[in-house]
Amino acid sequence: MSETVKIIYGDQTIELPVIIGSEGEKAVDITQLRNKTGFITYDPGFANTGSCKSAITFMDGEKGILRYRGIPVEQLAEHSSFRETAYLLVHDKLPSLRELNRFSILLNDHSLVHEDMRQFYETFPRASHPMGLLSSMVNALRSFYPELRIDEEEIDMTVTRLLSKVRTLAAMSFKISRGHKVVYPRPDLSYCANFLNMMFDTPVRPYLVDNDLVRALDVFWILHADHEQNCSTSAVRLVGSARTNLYASISAGIAALWGPLHGGANQAVIEMLTQVHRNGETVKRLVERAKDKNDPFRLMGFGHRVYKTYDPRALIMKGVCDKVLDRLKIDDPLLDLAKQLEAVALEDDYFVSHNLYPNVDFYSGIILRAIGIPTNMFTVMFAIGRLPGWIAQWKESMDDPEWRIGRPRQVYTGPRLRDYTPIDDR
Ligand code: ACO
Repeated sequence: MSETVKIIYGDQTIELPVIIGSEGEKAVDITQLRNKTGFITYDPGFANTGSCKSAITFMDGEKGILRYRGIPVEQLAEHSSFRETAYLLVHDKLPSLRELNRFSILLNDHSLVHEDMRQFYETFPRASHPMGLLSSMVNALRSFYPELRIDEEEIDMTVTRLLSKVRTLAAMSFKISRGHKVVYPRPDLSYCANFLNMMFDTPVRPYLVDNDLVRALDVFWILHADHEQNCSTSAVRLVGSARTNLYASISAGIAALWGPLHGGANQAVIEMLTQVHRNGETVKRLVERAKDKNDPFRLMGFGHRVYKTYDPRALIMKGVCDKVLDRLKIDDPLLDLAKQLEAVALEDDYFVSHNLYPNVDFYSGIILRAIGIPTNMFTVMFAIGRLPGWIAQWKESMDDPEWRIGRPRQVYTGPRLRDYTPIDDR
């Protein structure tokens, strides 16, 4: 007989079924709870709530495990490319050589954006944050490239367009913000090399593709490609649950990722380290401030809702970081500072007892700096990497037989019934 959980309230008992995932995770199915008892559940931040069944990404926060479609992220970071990992996430299989080549051709064919979109960039204030721009531009793509039908082929086309054009849009926003000439994608360059070329090539200084940097970017994007039901992915699913189109759903995901407690942390880490370096503050003092409940400061790049051990992505990122800086012969004082900070925090009772370890954002900014990416573009880099995951999650939710529009309830705590007071009597 399948497992159930009994809830006893007053003199009544109800039995609720238990759902068991393929890795043994157990969930109490409460879909009948309100009907049977009148109760709802209360779970701020959804820390105990499973919002869907998903076959895309598996995480074990206690053991520090992350797998995409069953494959450990460590293996993908070592052997795969971002393009192949994107295919794996979106199409639920590793592509054959023929499929991968066809995917590359499609990414190349769809890499240009409508010339009229450049006008949008011109009209935004120059100081606009690139994440706000990216979110707006992705939403605007729908007007230029509407889906014709909601069938498999059309969704595939939209998916490929998005994966390819987001990279072009991000590089365009950088060029235009600098007042530079936009660089078009080139058919002879890979996904990552093309992005770097669109960012850094100029008519007076041609960009020389450096394969080590291309590989570092490839790994950076693989490590960001999906992370199950995090804040931005949940935003994509929630917006999509109203059967909103893919572009608008992804645009919402980008907006959610912008926050400093989520993807914006990679920018916040570098800003924090730069400030400490400039002010000559000690790392010990920084750790003390992070522990002080009267100080709103938090150690950026530390802590995670799910990981209660070292984030496996951070471990790989640290290795890539050392390699890139070594290869470029860069002596970045922020890397030394980051390592000192990590060492002090990992020995500190507060950080140990709160299970606070470096997360993916702690070292990633140092790699991006070394590649030449400006700090305000860091979260855009995260967004390009997370795109395959958002798309895969959106597609999965569209095919979910248990799909319903997302609509949480609340516990109302406002005033009880009272009468309207005319303005003269107030
Ligand atoms: N510095 C100091 N204390 C921290 C930190 C931190 N970075 N993170 C959590 N804590 C403490 C909290 O003060 C709290 O302490 P208390 O129980 O004594 O009150 C406890 O740890 C639990 O923290 P919560 O905020 O409840 O944890 P939650 O799971 O809600 O938040 C989050 C996770 C947002 C990532 C948090 O750890 C944080 O703010 N980290 C810094 C920002 C960051 O690096 N974000 C990137 C996350 S990875 C990503 O999104 C890609």
